[in-house]
Amino acid sequence: MTRTSFNTKVVHHKMSQAQIQNSKSTPIYQTSAFTFKDLDHMESYYKGESPYLYSREKNPNTDELGMTVANLEEAEAGVATSSGMSAILAGILSVAKAGDHIVAAEDLYGGTHKLITKELQTFGIEVSMVSFTDTDKIRGYIKDNTKLLYTESISNPFLRVENLQQLVELANEFGVKTMVDNTFATPYLLQPYTSGVDLVVHSGTKYIGGHSDVTCGVLVGGEELIQKATEKVVTLGSNLSPFEAWLTQRGAKTLGLRMKQQSDNAHKLAQTLSDNRFVKQVYYPEFVSDKGHGAIVTIELDHQIDIETFFRSLGWIKIAPTLAGVETTVSYPVRTSHRALSEAERENIGINDFVIRLSIGIEDSEDIIAQFEQCIAHSIK
Ligand SMILES: Cc1ncc(COP(=O)(O)O)c(C=O)c1O
Repeated sequence: MTRTSFNTKVVHHKMSQAQIQNSKSTPIYQTSAFTFKDLDHMESYYKGESPYLYSREKNPNTDELGMTVANLEEAEAGVATSSGMSAILAGILSVAKAGDHIVAAEDLYGGTHKLITKELQTFGIEVSMVSFTDTDKIRGYIKDNTKLLYTESISNPFLRVENLQQLVELANEFGVKTMVDNTFATPYLLQPYTSGVDLVVHSGTKYIGGHSDVTCGVLVGGEELIQKATEKVVTLGSNLSPFEAWLTQRGAKTLGLRMKQQSDNAHKLAQTLSDNRFVKQVYYPEFVSDKGHGAIVTIELDHQIDIETFFRSLGWIKIAPTLAGVETTVSYPVRTSHRALSEAERENIGINDFVIRLSIGIEDSEDIIAQFEQCIAHSIK
C-alpha cells in the first residue's frame, strides 16, 4: 500500500466492508454512481449480473420504494420518480407515441389536465377529454389509434369514484391500455391493478410519503410496461433522489395506520358538515372500500359565507396547496390545483369560488369538527 498524503487520504477514506453493519433501517445510498473493482466487474453490470452503475438509472433506495408500492398494489414492478407529474408522463409515454390518441377523464387534477391537454400535443399525441361518468360516452371517442384510457380512481376535487371494472372491460373490448391515478385512494383502500388496470400511478408526495416533506411519484404495473416507463425516466432524467426515496419509504410504513385514522376522521367530519346549513354541499364518497372512503372532504359553502373570512378563521388548520399530510389542511381549488384551467373549464366540472377541499389529518376527530364548525360560524356575512 503506497503512503498517501492529506488530500488523497481524506478523499479515499471509507468504511471497510467488515465495518458495514446489519442496519435495522435501509441505509441511504446517497451516491450518484457505483464503483467497480475491475473492467470485468463493470462488464457484469451490462450483462445484468450486478445491479447498479449510475443512480439516474437505478439506485437501491428508489428500487426499494418502487417495489414497496408495487407490492402494496399487488403489481409486478414499480418505478419511483421525481414527482407525481413525471410518473404520469413516463406512464403515458410508455404506452403512447406521436400519432397515437388517448382518452382521458375531464375531471382530473389540474396539473394532469394541463399535462394532457397542453404538453402531450408537443409529443404529437392526440387527446380527448371526456366525462367518464358514462362508459358509452367514452366508447364513442375510442378510435383506431387510441392507445390509452386515463383516469383517477377518486377524482379531484369532487371525489367521484371511478368504476374500474367497467373501464377495464371497455378497454379490453378495444385492446387499449388503462392507467389510473390512485393517489387519493392509496393501495390501502383500492388496488386498481388487481381489477385489471395496466398502470397505476401515485403522487408519492401525498399519502405514500404522508409527511409533506418530499416530492415524488411512483408508477406500478406489469414488468414490460414498467421497463418501458423506466427507460423514459432514465432518458428524461426524472429519477428520484435516494434521500427522498428513503423518506418516502419511511413514510409508507405507516400508510395503513394513517389512512385508517384519516379516513375515519374525514367520514365523521363529512357527516357533521352535511347537517350544517351554511354548507351547501358536501362531497364525500359513499363507498370506496370496506376499510374506509378516503380522507378528503370537499365542500361548497353557502353564499352567506365570506370566503376571505373563512380562510382567516381556520385557527390551527393551515391553508396549503396540497393534501394528504398528517395535519388537517384546506386548499382552494380555484386559486391552486385548478388555477391552470380556464373559467369555462372550471365551470364545466363544477368548481366555483365557494368550493373548498379539506384534507383531513390524524388529529382527534372532535378537535377537527369543532375547529371547522367554529370557522364557519365566524364567517357568516
Ligand atoms: C391526484 C394527483 N395526481 C398527481 C399529482 C401531481 O403530483 P406531484 O405534485 O407529486 O407531481 C397531484 C398533485 O396534487 C394530485 O393531486
